[in-house]
Amino acid sequence: MSDTNAPAIHAKYPEHLRARVDEYLSGLWFMTGDPEADAEAAGTEGLVEAMRYSLLAGGKRIRPVLALATAEALGRDPEELMPAAAAIELIHTYSLIHDDLPAMDDDDLRRGMPTCHMKYGDDVAILAGDALFAEAVRMVCDDQGGGPAVQVGVLRELSTAAGVVGMVGGQYLDIEDAGGNSAEALARVHALKTGRLMACAVHVALVLAPPPPAQEHAYRAFARELGLLFQIVDDILDVAGSEEALGKAVGTDERLGKVTYVSLHGMDRARELAAESHARAIALLGQVDGPVDDLAGIADTAFARQS
Ligand code: IPE
Ligand code: IPE
Ligand code: MG
Ligand code: MG
Ligand code: MG
Repeated sequence: MSDTNAPAIHAKYPEHLRARVDEYLSGLWFMTGDPEADAEAAGTEGLVEAMRYSLLAGGKRIRPVLALATAEALGRDPEELMPAAAAIELIHTYSLIHDDLPAMDDDDLRRGMPTCHMKYGDDVAILAGDALFAEAVRMVCDDQGGGPAVQVGVLRELSTAAGVVGMVGGQYLDIEDAGGNSAEALARVHALKTGRLMACAVHVALVLAPPPPAQEHAYRAFARELGLLFQIVDDILDVAGSEEALGKAVGTDERLGKVTYVSLHGMDRARELAAESHARAIALLGQVDGPVDDLAGIADTAFARQS
């Protein structure tokens, strides 16, 4: 955001949760632990290298941090939800690898580094994305605690958020320009391609620690709002951000003729809509019991971020 539109920022991004996420992710090598099965996978080191290259390139980790902060607000130890939280980051990273491919947005830079396909080739990048999705599912099955009901509940949230009524469906509407040109239609595309996976981070915490229905409703409404806010700001930064701060190219949306909040509403109105969305998200947190400082820090960051 520019200084003239400086948002009211109250809370800090929960860096302590981000550090825990980064530590967990850096320990992932995607082997099964079964010596025979792992021996059969000899020669796949290059695939794992490509997966870890994109996964560990940096990134804000906002989705897993959101999952952990929600678990905390619900009175749980964030560590209890780490496998599910990390699984969302794996799926998000897969979505970025595929989004950057020449057949999609054709971008060369991601998280401040050459995109996966620039470094390893389109073929390996496609496989790295595919494998990250599969490994996310396996991680929940193998490592997420809480028993089968929690695991299945988490898998249902992940697969729904990633599927047709989620990220991939939204990406389809985006590339085919099939969402329509109205403000409502664009909000719908954004809700699917970005909002669902973001909201999923809150939902997996609700699976682990279900609150009373009125509380659940407030959490879900907050999650939905945050997802929309995040992509409105992403559209703004594609025009007004810097490649250096973002670690990805700017101007991609215009180059590809995308319908975005900026192309549809103009920059000033897009900023206003982001501010309104941010205000709604913060207001919804007011309905949530429990410590919500970290959640507020995430909402503030989603709004005021430059990266
Ligand atoms: C970028 O997501 C793609 C969108 C869904 C807008 P992020 O802005 O969260 O990217 P990283 O994870 O920090 O790199
Ligand atoms: C992509 O939206 C959302 C995904 C599902 C990856 P964008 O194409 O706007 O994301 P960036 O700007 O490349 O990160
Ligand atoms: Mg895209
Ligand atoms: Mg893109
Ligand atoms: Mg974008």
